Order: sequence, then C-alpha cells, then structure tokens
Amino acid sequence: MDDLKKIIRDIPDFPKKGIIFKDITTLLADGASFHRMIDLIAHRYLDRKIDKIVGVEARGFLLGSALAYKLGVGIVLVRKPGKLPYKTRKKTYDLEYGSDSLEIHEDAFCPGERVLIADDLLATGGTVAAVVELVSELGAELVECAFLAELDFLRGRERLPQDKVYSLLHF
Ligand code: PRP
Repeated sequence: MDDLKKIIRDIPDFPKKGIIFKDITTLLADGASFHRMIDLIAHRYLDRKIDKIVGVEARGFLLGSALAYKLGVGIVLVRKPGKLPYKTRKKTYDLEYGSDSLEIHEDAFCPGERVLIADDLLATGGTVAAVVELVSELGAELVECAFLAELDFLRGRERLPQDKVYSLLHF
C-alpha cells in the first residue's frame, strides 16, 4: 500500500496557508495505481450485497463511479446546491468558518436499499456525516463509508457511525 501512498502528492499551503493538501490527481492519472486502488476497495464489498453507491461531489464521483461499475450497481450523486434537477433534500453542515450544503434527489433510494458511501478523503468528517444523515432520512441502509484516504489526526471517523468507516490509506 506504500506505493499508493507515495504517489499522492503533498501541496503545502493549499487551499490556504498552513494546510498540506493531499493531491490525489497524481494517483488518478496513473492507470496501474487507479486500477489497483479500485480493485482493493471493491474487493471488500463483493459479498456485502451493496445495492447502490453514493458518490460525493466532486472527487467522490471518480471513486464512486469506478466502484459502482466494478460491483455492477448504480451510483447516486450527492451534489453541491442547485446542481440536481429533480426534487432534492438538503443538508447543511458546519465548516471551520461558515457552513456548506449538499443535496440528493429525494427519490434516490428504494426503502431499505443497502448503500455504500464513497469519497476520496476523510478529513474532519463533516461532509460525509451530512451524507450519512441524507441516506438515513431517505430510508436507505448504510453499509459503510469508504474512502481512498483518511487523515487520522483529524479524527473524522468519530463523527461517523461506529464500525462503518473504511479507508484504504491512512495519513
Ligand atoms: C473534500 C473531499 C471530501 C471533503 C473532506 O471535498 O473530497 O469530500 O473535502 O473533508 P471533511 O471530512 O473535512 O468534510 P471538497 O469540499 O474540497 O470538494 P471537491 O471534492 O468538490 O473539491
């Protein structure tokens, strides 16, 4: 797994001073690494009866759609406000300064569908905690939240349902 970690690039002071940004574009652009990353994550869910993947805008779409294809299931989009065309349910969550919102189509799931949430990075956990609430409010069953990478020191997993968080890589 170290080779996958090494190919992720650190960008100091992005998007603001003092933050070291984990740039996964270098991993995505390398065919062998992208392929391996998806195979490793998908393997965990082959026998878990997943009905749908939920991908979180924007980088979660990349991970989510590849996983959905591999598992042979559909993908539901969680998007930033104003992007989804049909009736939506919205969740607002706190950021360090201010707040942000995410939306999902209100008819995204059939009752009891087993859902895997996919995103590239677990940092503070605010984003995916909001997605977990949307999934639950729409009557689906959360199987797990899967991330390419987790920033352990931010302890984002403590904001998510216990034992329902999986990250391929840890920093
Ligand atoms: C990043 C990342 C996760 C989220 C993690 O997305 O892709 O979705 O932040 O942060 P958190 O755990 O502290 O909530 P971003 O909001 O930058 O959107 P993008 O993928 O559209 O760039």
